[in-house]
Amino acid sequence: MDKLVVKGRNRLRGEVTVSGAKNAAVAVIPAAVMAGGVSILENLPCIEDVRNLCATIEKIGGKCTYLDKHTVKIDCSQGVAYQADFEEVQQLRASYYLLGALLARYKQAEVAMPGGCNFGKRPIDLHLKGFRALGAVVTEENGVIKARAEHLKGASIYLDQASVGATINIMLAASMADGVTTIENAAKEPHVVDTANYLNMMGANIKGAGTDVIRIKGVESLKGAQYTIIPDQIEAGTYMIAAAITGGDVLVKNIIPKHMDSLTAKLDEMHVKVDEGDDSIRIIADTPLQAVNVKTMSYPGFPTDLQPQIAALLSVCGGRSVLTENVWDNRYQYIEELRKLGAKVEINGRIAVIDGIDHFTGAEVRATDLRAGAAMILAALAAEGETVIDGVRYIDRGYEDVEYKFQEMGADIRRIKG
Ligand code: EPU
Repeated sequence: MDKLVVKGRNRLRGEVTVSGAKNAAVAVIPAAVMAGGVSILENLPCIEDVRNLCATIEKIGGKCTYLDKHTVKIDCSQGVAYQADFEEVQQLRASYYLLGALLARYKQAEVAMPGGCNFGKRPIDLHLKGFRALGAVVTEENGVIKARAEHLKGASIYLDQASVGATINIMLAASMADGVTTIENAAKEPHVVDTANYLNMMGANIKGAGTDVIRIKGVESLKGAQYTIIPDQIEAGTYMIAAAITGGDVLVKNIIPKHMDSLTAKLDEMHVKVDEGDDSIRIIADTPLQAVNVKTMSYPGFPTDLQPQIAALLSVCGGRSVLTENVWDNRYQYIEELRKLGAKVEINGRIAVIDGIDHFTGAEVRATDLRAGAAMILAALAAEGETVIDGVRYIDRGYEDVEYKFQEMGADIRRIKG
């Protein structure tokens, strides 16, 4: 397995360009299966999850052609199989979106239960509850979810929790149901809006995405569309924190500053200078940083997917910070790895109390999941000496050209193929 070797303490400088959003791409690609025509998806991140999803679509009979590194033409006009019950699908958390997409188009779907990151229970009961409300019979057999409906019929659905996946999956299925569906307590994340925008370009009728009530008027068929994926909020945040943790001065380009508000507010509170442009943010960290408290929440709150990265930063801020994880039950496994680099963190349930240290010290650590891996890179960039990070395949699932982007900013980071 590949490793990253990082020699820390270089102040990052210069520019970095953010790629397309992983969590939007992994919803928009399955949505393309719903079209009786050809879609061209632009600004896709060049990452494992996208390649695996395209391979899955090919395997069920669609055609995915790379027009360039970030643009894929998806042609499912000849139809696809409604069964995606093979092994590759289990490797991919977001393959659950194939359930909603295939159910919409064929009124039946059989998809292997997704795998994904390693931070505890990741139920999809709310997705299935939504499909049932639309009239589908949903069963599970040997790890394969089977959903089938004579007709999908619009319904009022209240989500017990503002789940991103359930909101998107129900939106997919409801786009081709008879009548109107409303989703209340819907997730408001930027990738929910991006998926709705793409569906609307395909001919769907979705209103209210980005608020907590989404109204979907079903249509009979969808056509292909050309669509550009939004920039990745979490990759952008990771680079903003990288600049801060190294005392750097970095212009993060191809960003939607509004999406970064919760992080910007925290960096500001920590005394990092944040200058917003139209589609860029410059981060300058030239004074000692102050501890702050952070609570993760669904959007527009502080994203759980930046929780490990901000924990790395808080570890080298002056004073005590309290970090609260409100989205996932068990997203602190990486703390043990951060401690190997010298972090002083006490965990009590969902709360992590972090006492700032002067600096990290290089060690051998591993990425326990995608964002935990990003946090290891950030800590390593700020560490005295050399850090070796194992488990890079997790990081590759979500960060395009990760070591090259950091090298461009002056980081001493290299990959050892394993
Ligand atoms: N939940 C349920 N039942 C469900 C669905 C969710 O109880 O049916 C709970 C979960 O256990 C969790 C909370 O609701 O406590 C939020 O889960 P959500 O459904 O919003 O998460 P997700 O859709 O599975 C997406 C991202 C995650 C990100 C979360 C939260 C994708 C492919 N994944 O997951 O991203 O952490 O939203 O924002 O969009 C990542 O990119 O590293 C990543 C893990």
